[in-house]
Amino acid sequence: MILNKEKDLTVTSDTTNVYDEVLTTKELNAKENKHLRRQAKAAESEAKKNSFKNNIEVKQINEEELFNAPKKVALKDRENVIEVEDLDFYYSMGNKQALSKINMKIKKNTVTAFIGPSGCGKSTLLRSINRMNDLVENIVINGSIKVNGVNIYEPGINVARLRTEVGMVFQKANPFPISIFDNVAFGPRSQGIRDKQVINQLVEDSLRKAALWEDVKDYLKDSALGLSGGQQQRLCIARAIAMRPKILLMDEPTSALDPIATLKVEELILKLKKEYTIVIVTHSMAQATRVSDYTAFFLSGELVEYDRTKKIFTNPKNKKTEDYISGRFG
Ligand SMILES: Nc1ncnc2c1ncn2[C@@H]1O[C@H](COP(=O)(O)OP(=O)(O)OP(=O)(O)O)[C@@H](O)[C@H]1O
Ligand SMILES: [Mg+2]
Repeated sequence: MILNKEKDLTVTSDTTNVYDEVLTTKELNAKENKHLRRQAKAAESEAKKNSFKNNIEVKQINEEELFNAPKKVALKDRENVIEVEDLDFYYSMGNKQALSKINMKIKKNTVTAFIGPSGCGKSTLLRSINRMNDLVENIVINGSIKVNGVNIYEPGINVARLRTEVGMVFQKANPFPISIFDNVAFGPRSQGIRDKQVINQLVEDSLRKAALWEDVKDYLKDSALGLSGGQQQRLCIARAIAMRPKILLMDEPTSALDPIATLKVEELILKLKKEYTIVIVTHSMAQATRVSDYTAFFLSGELVEYDRTKKIFTNPKNKKTEDYISGRFG
């Protein structure tokens, strides 16, 4: 949810971001206000730094908008939750082009697989969807990415908050060296939620959704590092879910897992798409066919073909797609 856009958004009563609940309940005491203000300032200074890098101008974040957010604001449900328009992406101050003229629309509650040989730009595009690339020095971006209709590269976007809406799961599970419970509670706590009951419920819900609750419910206080690789990856998914995102980005989430753990994560993805829009980068053609509704094939920074997964794998339009999926290169 993007702060300076909230005024324009439709007010609905169903989907509510945890952030908004926090902002509108009595739990938001003075201490939390301070915490949120600090977070907003940090986001603002981060945005300023990024604006310098990305050559965009940043508007002052309006505290009024942050603290007087309308009750139960939810982004208007749109069929296309992600719209990439004429996106060019360069590393090294424009010297290295990683993506050129990418156009794609991603539909709500679908799974989209990004495939293509190493270095074709899959991760770059994925990371652009929640501005994770902002952390890289000297990038240049042209074009736009809209999330629920809002251009996330517009000046004044609260990037920290964007990332709560668009969660990310990385290739290598990266649990924090703290307890299982604290890993999942980390995000909500950093958003200012202090109520123990609310936190407990969020942790349990998130672990259930990540199909990990039964494995860990008796060991919540144990270190997350004691979990198996597959369990750690599901914990990272639970941690992302605890932020109540609308979109989940996954960059090769099963590449370090054995076949059984992979299957569990794939089953989870199929279950989660009822609630989330998922984009997954994968090198496994089999995985793309098992989990995704749509597949995008990239080559040398270009989107070669983007269609229903079934079509891509049975009757692709482009010869290059056919060559790639049949293992002729990459
Ligand atoms: N931080 C960076 N600085 C400079 N160039 C980068 C950086 N990150 C990626 N690149 C380059 O951008 C291009 C796209 O990289 P990207 O990581 O998006 O590819 P990928 O399709 O995800 O590859 P893989 O399948 O190996 O993960 C590559 O040529 C890569 O070398
Ligand atoms: Mg990659």
